[in-house]
Amino acid sequence: MSRTIGLSLCRLGIVVALAGIVCLSIMFFWFSPSPTCPPQFVQQVQHYESSSAKSSNSLTDTAENKPILLMWFWPEDFRFDLNDCKNIFNIDSCLLTVDRSLYSDADAVLIYHKSISWDLSNLPPSPRPPFQKWIWFHLESPTNTQKKPGLENLFNHTLSYRQDADIFTRLHLTVRKKPADDFVIPKKDKLVCWIVSNNAPVTGVGTRNTFYQEFSKHINVTMFGRAYASHLDPKDYYPTLASCKFYLSFENSIHKDYITEKINGPLSVGTVPVVMGPPRKNYENFFPRDAFIHVQDFPDPKSVAEYLLQLDKDEDAYRRYFDWRKYYSATPHLLQQQEFDLPICTACDYIAKHKEYKEIHDLYEWYFN
Ligand SMILES: *[C@@H]1O[C@H](CO)[C@@H](O)[C@H](O)[C@H]1NC(C)=O
Ligand SMILES: *[C@@H]1O[C@H](CO)[C@@H](O)[C@H](O)[C@H]1NC(C)=O
Repeated sequence: MSRTIGLSLCRLGIVVALAGIVCLSIMFFWFSPSPTCPPQFVQQVQHYESSSAKSSNSLTDTAENKPILLMWFWPEDFRFDLNDCKNIFNIDSCLLTVDRSLYSDADAVLIYHKSISWDLSNLPPSPRPPFQKWIWFHLESPTNTQKKPGLENLFNHTLSYRQDADIFTRLHLTVRKKPADDFVIPKKDKLVCWIVSNNAPVTGVGTRNTFYQEFSKHINVTMFGRAYASHLDPKDYYPTLASCKFYLSFENSIHKDYITEKINGPLSVGTVPVVMGPPRKNYENFFPRDAFIHVQDFPDPKSVAEYLLQLDKDEDAYRRYFDWRKYYSATPHLLQQQEFDLPICTACDYIAKHKEYKEIHDLYEWYFN
């Protein structure tokens, strides 16, 4: 009895297997060269196409497979080109849009914290599609964050400078495979420079101002920026930084991982940053130890000034602050309208890779503690 069943099962198995093979072969030959090929294939083709040769057809085909990232607000009202992700960072994994009529189709909505009104009335409307993820987008430190009530349990992902955010955005040094020996220190005609655009005491700048008051008694500092008479045009930002031996990379407030473009600017042009911010160890998560001077390496502002004056006279000691460039390179960050390109493009890349369920509980508990 069991033998007969076994035999017929076996026969059935062979038939099913054969049918399967035939089906798979048909599918393989039928579908693979057709326009409905897997997205990877399309992307590969696109990758090798020059942008001028790209037909509008292939764009719409791939757009269907890409998640839609709806940017609910233009951050700080900076309107950049939505193709920047593709053109600058080679990130082409989502359909980035500001078209709110796509809301009910959007896979993720990017919401800039500073633009949210206190009564939350300018948030996306209900009902929220069940598949849709909201991304909390915020780059200010806790000191400069308004605790708007009602946002605690609304989001699925965080986008921040913090390393423990879901989407973590930061400019990194790039490792060179072949050491480079060709770096030339730009011509310097200033000793210490500082660009200060914000000087409002509420933003936490007290610490750096107290330091500066004492420091500037011992060394000449050339000041630029909105907070001072000499406003710096964005086109002059990099050339000005390059013309200073040292730059004061002083963060407005002191928080873990809050290490901003203020250090990236001088590093990318060949100026030695003097940093004030989280402890040295935190900086060393992102930058080699001999790439910067930390004010906490010295007992007081006067000693920092004396050390810089000493380096000013000692060419070899100064030059050592550029040794890391043999092995790593720094990339200038984008300015003004394009200031938010990197975090937004990072989010675009992230949502294409992360389809999993996720909820943020007690956003502020995480952010402030
Ligand atoms: C700063 O520069 C001025 C003029 O170049 C000079 O007179 C002054 O002594 C300098 N101050 C310090 C602290 O080096
Ligand atoms: C996103 O988060 C909200 C609020 O925490 C939650 O209700 C929703 O189910 C989450 N959705 C996804 C797709 O993760």
